[in-house]
Amino acid sequence: MARNRHAVIWTQCGGTPEKMGDLVLSGEMISFTYTKEYLAAGRHGFCLLGDGAIWGSDTVTYPVSERIPVFPRLLTLIPGNNLHNLQRRHYLDILRARLGREPPPGPETEWQLLVMGGHGGIGHIDLFADDIAAEAWYRSASRSSRNGQGQTATESLSTQSQSTQSRSQLWRMLKRHVLNENLDFDPQVIEAALGPTPSVGGMIPKLLVSVTPGDLQPNFYPPGTPDKTDVVLKVEPPEYTGLLDLEALCLDMHREAGFEVPACHHYQADGLYFLAVERFDRAEGVPIPMESMFSVIATGDHHFRETGDILLDELGAVFDRLAEVVRLAEETGEQVYRRLLMALLTGNGDLHLDNMALLGGLNDCRLTPVYDPAPMRAWPRHNLVSAIPFDPSGYKDHGAFFIALGRSFGLSKDRIRQHIDDTLAATESYTERVMQLKRVPLLQRRQLVTIVETERQLLEKQRR
Ligand SMILES: Nc1ncnc2c1ncn2[C@@H]1O[C@H](COP(=O)(O)OP(=O)(O)OP(=O)(O)O)[C@@H](O)[C@H]1O
Ligand SMILES: [Mg+2]
Repeated sequence: MARNRHAVIWTQCGGTPEKMGDLVLSGEMISFTYTKEYLAAGRHGFCLLGDGAIWGSDTVTYPVSERIPVFPRLLTLIPGNNLHNLQRRHYLDILRARLGREPPPGPETEWQLLVMGGHGGIGHIDLFADDIAAEAWYRSASRSSRNGQGQTATESLSTQSQSTQSRSQLWRMLKRHVLNENLDFDPQVIEAALGPTPSVGGMIPKLLVSVTPGDLQPNFYPPGTPDKTDVVLKVEPPEYTGLLDLEALCLDMHREAGFEVPACHHYQADGLYFLAVERFDRAEGVPIPMESMFSVIATGDHHFRETGDILLDELGAVFDRLAEVVRLAEETGEQVYRRLLMALLTGNGDLHLDNMALLGGLNDCRLTPVYDPAPMRAWPRHNLVSAIPFDPSGYKDHGAFFIALGRSFGLSKDRIRQHIDDTLAATESYTERVMQLKRVPLLQRRQLVTIVETERQLLEKQRR
């Protein structure tokens, strides 16, 4: 029999750190029990469908599997298992030093990574080994953001490091982990300057830091530094040259088309390219619950294990069912349909269920602003029409499918037509703007333009 594993979840969603409850992973089941005090305070649950207003003092349970080995909401707190994931590399280094050997691949190491990196990330929940670790972390996190005030990470690194080399340790870490350059760095110096390194989901290397908007230099501070702006800082990996330029263009296209889009800032320094996207999971420093559609669906349906377990035309019904339990902003399904059309006409085949999320709790829930609209179809290995599968076999072509898809979101023929026309108009200048992005390899630009032109023709043909 496997041993039980224990952890605790805390939150600052009420403005100050407080314990939410206890987590136990035992064999095939993970369970979470709220403290009486937290339930009495009536604050947000650890996930939408695990809210205390639904479960009361009952223990929330979920049958784990190899694919989803913890509550779905906790998955993004485990650093992603890919080559450039900065957090996984950082925590594996610490684990390796602690164990004196390579951490064995498998559930025990994943659990250790969750406990080490599961706090201070996106959204409102912080996971720790125990309450003492939680209290110590909140004390040190508030110290590190105070220390960050008035001092850039680069400055604080150069004062703390004994090194005479002019390049900062942070740059060395990024060059080593993202560009695969053979450079040494001291992870403790980075942690001292930028604070703890929480896990963030997704494939592109990234850090949670704060910046000064308008600053032309890439100066990074710990998250939560007063008078700075918290951002998700994406670092472009060399195998996707130009990706962050394309992502910034697509953020602009969505903004111009009337979508809510976070502001973003571009930096370039010393061979590294950054896109800093302002975070929307904080309001005046207080965390707001944020949960991906993947997590919401998997929590509600225990047979659901991966994005491929749902079809595009089943998504509308998911929002209808959700609205029976959650006070969901009106027209959420319609907004999703509009985002799917924008994705189709910008060559973003990567609008999967982790790239769609809800913001807020049971009583005030809405789609997040647009994030990660990168047109991944520019790279042949990501050239999928849609990461969420669909079956166009009953239709003339997939253009006809995407038009009919509007019906599954409860939209009338006229409304669908309006959205198609609006999206075609909003993306009219797109291919021209793609071609102007000189950092993107010509091959990728051409491929993307051909794909997008084909999609436009399919929609235009069907709507005649
Ligand atoms: N502006 C933001 N505010 C808050 N959270 C964000 C923001 N942008 C991204 N996130 C969160 O960070 C995660 C990773 O970001 P993003 O999806 O942009 O990265 P990615 O590496 O490009 O992902 P993918 O693997 O889908 O390509 C998102 O799934 C989301 O949870
Ligand atoms: Mg993503």
